[in-house]
Amino acid sequence: MPLTVSRRLQRVESSPTLALAAKAKALAKAGKAVVDFTAGEPDFPTPSAAKQAGIRAIESNKTRYTAVEGIPELRQAIADRTNRQCGTKFEAANVLVSCGAKHSLYNVFQALCEPGDEVLIISPYWVSYPPMAWLAGATPVIVESTEQDGFQPDVDALRSRITSRTRGIVLNSPSNPTGAVISAERLRAIAKLASERGLFVISDEIYADLVYAPAQATSILQVQPDSVDRTILVNGVSKSYSMTGWRIGYAVGPKEAIEAMARVQSHSTSNPTTISQYAALEALTGSQEPVAEMRRHFQRRRDLIVTGLNHLDPLRCFKADGAFYAWCDVRGTGLGSEVVAARWLDESLIATVPGDGFGAPGWIRLSFATSDETIQEGLSRIQRWLGGLKAGK
Ligand SMILES: Cc1ncc(COP(=O)(O)O)c(C=O)c1O
Repeated sequence: MPLTVSRRLQRVESSPTLALAAKAKALAKAGKAVVDFTAGEPDFPTPSAAKQAGIRAIESNKTRYTAVEGIPELRQAIADRTNRQCGTKFEAANVLVSCGAKHSLYNVFQALCEPGDEVLIISPYWVSYPPMAWLAGATPVIVESTEQDGFQPDVDALRSRITSRTRGIVLNSPSNPTGAVISAERLRAIAKLASERGLFVISDEIYADLVYAPAQATSILQVQPDSVDRTILVNGVSKSYSMTGWRIGYAVGPKEAIEAMARVQSHSTSNPTTISQYAALEALTGSQEPVAEMRRHFQRRRDLIVTGLNHLDPLRCFKADGAFYAWCDVRGTGLGSEVVAARWLDESLIATVPGDGFGAPGWIRLSFATSDETIQEGLSRIQRWLGGLKAGK
């Protein structure tokens, strides 16, 4: 008898962004001169001090299980850092360290959602939020944000979608894919709404260290101190410290929620990798200059790609204030975003991610976590491709 997959999984597909990145890598491996704009990770090495801390952990035999929640010194360092940034009073017990921020988010959905609950998710959204809701038995309710409004969450629209089943709201600032940073004013209004309606807030701030002046990252915990009772803040070392492969993320929130998430984790992965925890501790507590350096490079590249794309009529590119993605409107081509992305790859070896997977057809995401040369080459190829399109080829 053939095996049947669980009903829960039937609406869940594998991550489209990871699939496209894999296709681009396979083409490059086959010797094709692909310009790859699919990367969801910084292209810099992990800072040396963090690598050395990982090596030291191995050599000093810190290679066994740790507490499920993570080593106490790392949990404390995360609490201290969050307190410094947000003016909160978290302790180590408010922190759960997991195998990447993706795992932290998965734990939150599992711990807080009942079957039939609704969770508000703002589009364009990071591809994994709706599947995580489905996998927890909840229903994602998508609330659109628009370019005209700078991709800020529309608080009235959020309010209008709340039903008796709504349990929470997911925020992501800076956003993947738009790079929009939610303003303090909107955060305050959302915090007020969540408090009035008794909703939890998942605040995914994984790109918070990658915000480009004069823009400033603000956490919902900073603007509305009483949101500590209902907010789970998610962050990690993947993007800020170029440590995607080490798989360390964390959640900070009310102790009961953290304890429930730890129970989920205790029956799935147990502790996150021990040696990675020591490397993350060094990254978070050591010199922050590598982050500043990476931010400077990303800001220069952001300017290069956004200006470049905006010169390529009929494309239009949103100016990201954070993260490392250029969010480009391709509707002027008269073609769908999946068609444009497929044709760019097939005809010009330009790998990008169409917005469809982010709930935003008509748009394409181009990661600028790549070299200036790759950006220049990609822009030239897109220009030539658009020339061909106009000539009716
Ligand atoms: C918005 C957002 N949240 C969470 C994650 C997951 O990060 P990690 O690699 O730490 O699991 C990503 C990674 O792409 C992301 O873009």
